Amino acid sequence: MCGIVGYLGEGNVYDILIKGLHRLEYRGYDSAGVALVGKDGRINIFKTKGKVSNLEAFCADKNLDSSVGIAHTRWATHGEPSDTNAHPHFSEDGNIAIVHNGTIENYKVLKDALEQHGCTFHSETDTEVLAQLIEYIRLTNKCSLLSAVRQALKQVVGAYAIAVLEKDNPDTIIAARQSSPLVIGIGDGEFFLASDATPFVEYTKECVYLKDGEIAEIRRGESLKITNLDNVEAEIDVTTLKMSISQLEKGGYPHFMLKEIFEQPDTLRDCIRGRVVDRGSRIIINGINDHKDKFLGAKRIVIVACGTSWHAGLLGKYLLQDMCRIPVVVEYASEFRYSNPVIDKDDVVIAISQSGETADTLAAIQIAKKAGAFVFGISNVVGSSIPRETYAGCYIHVGPEIGVASTKAFTGQVMVLTLISLAIAQLRGTLTQDEIEQVGKAVLKIPTYVQRVLELADRIERLSLIFTYARNFLYLGRGYSYPVALEGALKLKEISYIHAEGYPAAEMKHGPIALIDQEMPTVIIAPKDHLYEKIVSNVQQVKARGGNILAIVTEGDTVISNIADHVLEVPEMPECLTPIITSVPLQLLSYYIAINKGKDVDMPRNLAKSVTVE
Ligand code: F6R
Repeated sequence: MCGIVGYLGEGNVYDILIKGLHRLEYRGYDSAGVALVGKDGRINIFKTKGKVSNLEAFCADKNLDSSVGIAHTRWATHGEPSDTNAHPHFSEDGNIAIVHNGTIENYKVLKDALEQHGCTFHSETDTEVLAQLIEYIRLTNKCSLLSAVRQALKQVVGAYAIAVLEKDNPDTIIAARQSSPLVIGIGDGEFFLASDATPFVEYTKECVYLKDGEIAEIRRGESLKITNLDNVEAEIDVTTLKMSISQLEKGGYPHFMLKEIFEQPDTLRDCIRGRVVDRGSRIIINGINDHKDKFLGAKRIVIVACGTSWHAGLLGKYLLQDMCRIPVVVEYASEFRYSNPVIDKDDVVIAISQSGETADTLAAIQIAKKAGAFVFGISNVVGSSIPRETYAGCYIHVGPEIGVASTKAFTGQVMVLTLISLAIAQLRGTLTQDEIEQVGKAVLKIPTYVQRVLELADRIERLSLIFTYARNFLYLGRGYSYPVALEGALKLKEISYIHAEGYPAAEMKHGPIALIDQEMPTVIIAPKDHLYEKIVSNVQQVKARGGNILAIVTEGDTVISNIADHVLEVPEMPECLTPIITSVPLQLLSYYIAINKGKDVDMPRNLAKSVTVE
């Protein structure tokens, strides 16, 4: 949540910052601002409520000349979205400006103490408290900005990624992180700073991921020094980015979400590459092969995740139980962390997160590590916190996901969970070689089959018109299709703001059946699997009560096609692979409904892609 950008160099500071903010807008977009040290030696802050485009309009007639600046796009935590609460924030004397991503938990105590020392606050944010605290320490202790930041951060409880500018020192940016991401791009005589590498990937591929508890002093003239809160110098570990600029652009699509939906044949190919070999007969997942003893000895697997990643995790439970015969529990990371969980050292904990930065998932990992469990991460963002905090793991390799509603990351996560299940089954001997080969071969066909499903897009767009004005939706599925129902409902809710509920189809008769009528579409995910006959009954139960049914069925299905009002046919697959195939038409349905309603699908209200606060 919240995106930070900083730049120190000879380029056009404002343009670089604004472009960077657009790239980070997926992290939050309720207000935005920039702080520039002007040629007059003053820090000028321009900030406004709303999206980055509002900020651009606001800045159109301003003097933006500068050679150093920091910028921010906000997802509000303390204080409503407003011009005043927008970042950057000044210290009271206007000497320093700060941008912040995270939450200062003890901000009230710090604020009260500063007020007693005569400080006046203008915003409701925890960030302004930090600005005032740093400046108060700098003035009281007559120390450098770097030292003041270090002393202030020692008093802070919570999460932060910050960038700080000082009026009288236009050749320096101070940056620090604790539980919120920050990466420094090293260019030719210039430095970039950002919440992820996307704002500077076209300028440099060399970067340094700041670690928790580290403070960077970025100085003009190619000097970068990293120390910790105790002023011990840290090694500078330079990473070369593999990301390309084309991955960050819409490539002719009207929205990132649609581009990402249509990318899935390729992203799934990338996800599978090198992992399913010998024509489907052998599965190689290095993170598992390198820790065979942990997976052979595992008594239980605990999956922790949030949101869409949790839905993938629920599918992981079905996959792992089916293929590996290990008990699996799936927990919302936010519940797990405060539930006094019972974790054994023989448990394997799998943490799933697209961004690799979700605060609750990171906290769950720490708890599992403390209890002595082996922790394995599944993530998309290379170099993010979750891969660094786990003992082993596996990237989904689907490329940057920018649309706030997760699509290609979900199918990538499910794919990786399928491969992990096959790899563990191979290791533990819980599937025969024939069974592994049968699924392995089908996995190799998935990209082509997803391509076929995408050909339904025009039909789904037409169908979406029928459903656009419904006020509630019910999504039903059984077995592997139940998590797909949950995910389908979440996708619709988050981008079209229509209430939708995902439910296990057989549970419907214990309550939600009371809601069924012509007004409420029921989407039923009913591919040919071992529960097919059961779900046919559920379809009949909905129809008998006058329900309006859209069913996702296997090609050639005649039974459900005769009962449902509308059907979308998807190719036949082994049961464990159907979720990847059936979730794609639901992504498209949500997309088109949201478009019909005129919603901003890439930046739905109140949401942010990377949830780095509790
Ligand atoms: C929904 C969505 C969110 C995320 C959730 C976890 O489309 O994107 O529900 O899945 O915020 O995020 P990650 O996977 O980054 O931990």
